Amino acid sequence: MTRKNVLYAQSGGVTPVINATACGVIETARAHRDAIGKVYAGKDGIIGVLREELIDTGKERKADIAALRHTPGGAFGSCRYKLKGIEDNLREYERLIEVFKAHDIGVFLYNGGGDSSDTAYKVSQIGKKLGFPVQCLGVPKTIDNDLPITDCSPGFGSVAKYVAVSIMEASLDVESMASSSTKVFILEVMGRHAGWIAAAGGLAQREAGDPPHVILFPEVTFDEKAFLAKVDKAVKTHGYCSIVVSEGVKGPDGKFLSDAGVRDAFGHAQLGGVAPVIAGLVKDRLGYKYHWAVSDYLQRSARHVASKTDVDQAYAMGKAAIELALAGKSGVMPVIERLSDKPYRWKAGEAPLSRMANREKKMPKKFITKDGMGITAAARTYLGPLIRGEDYPPYDREGLPKYVRLKRVLAGKKLPDFEV
Ligand code: F6P
Repeated sequence: MTRKNVLYAQSGGVTPVINATACGVIETARAHRDAIGKVYAGKDGIIGVLREELIDTGKERKADIAALRHTPGGAFGSCRYKLKGIEDNLREYERLIEVFKAHDIGVFLYNGGGDSSDTAYKVSQIGKKLGFPVQCLGVPKTIDNDLPITDCSPGFGSVAKYVAVSIMEASLDVESMASSSTKVFILEVMGRHAGWIAAAGGLAQREAGDPPHVILFPEVTFDEKAFLAKVDKAVKTHGYCSIVVSEGVKGPDGKFLSDAGVRDAFGHAQLGGVAPVIAGLVKDRLGYKYHWAVSDYLQRSARHVASKTDVDQAYAMGKAAIELALAGKSGVMPVIERLSDKPYRWKAGEAPLSRMANREKKMPKKFITKDGMGITAAARTYLGPLIRGEDYPPYDREGLPKYVRLKRVLAGKKLPDFEV
């Protein structure tokens, strides 16, 4: 039997656990040496594939591959790079197939979110057309949790945990200062058009009246009057107000409260900076002293406080991708299927890439309270299990986590250079 070479690439914004998925891919492939030959990884994602910069993961030590499970960032580099439609940019697709041919790639695994599912789907189509059919599979990942079909997306649970823990801790701080100093604390979180991460902040509330007192979602149009009234009431009732705001909140004019004016390759607005906008409003209209924080890349890299559920699922998705490939599948993505809430049980399933591509799953109405600024019991039932369990990285004697940096040795080039 001829052994297949695998090419794995990371795509889009990274997560605290995307390397756990890489670890699942590589360890599972190494356990099937009878059927799988080399495992390459694109340097900086699909850009590296186009440039024929393929990292030979076979050159990495077993212990370093194992350490990927607890190392944040994207160990092989990721990118935001959109492959245009096949008609508009046949040259890039042809180049991908040339690279696949040159390195005898039988399986292409693309580890990303909705945009990447689209790319993986297009590549799965073109291989057949260009006479070099490659098994093409997506592997799910996004902190935004907005992928359809899968119950949740690897990366989300850990960011959710970071946000819930952070707002809980910062609220204890502001509560202690409130009688003579800061009365309002605002934490801005990512998530783009979906409020899943903001909603996770609500998990910090154990009892009625606990912080955060206000959550602002992209799914709910910002109502300044209702917001200020709720903040004021919280300060008058509890002495302080703790707020989680999603970067994707829009005003009644349909515009983001924080649009940095920059667009990425997919045309997405770069968001960030809504917290100071909200803080300014609180100061101007209510006169309260405030502090704000933008969790930004801190939330996306906070492996030290990862959710064990999330780490396990991220690893399982990498493992399942190789198993699906071994079963001869193509054009599919492994997904997480929830079997029950209490006790929380899940298993790896699969979904066609054509159904995953370019669709955003937003928070359903039943997860948001009537006033639009909190989460319901149903949301807690869904979110709760995703942040459960701890999976601390090992620490060294200097008190820092032992994160790994791979050697990233490139395979020899066989083709002429290609301009990306
Ligand atoms: O898609 C994940 C995400 O983290 C979003 O929540 C955020 O808006 C975006 O990526 C930021 O992207 P970049 O790191 O490319 O600026």
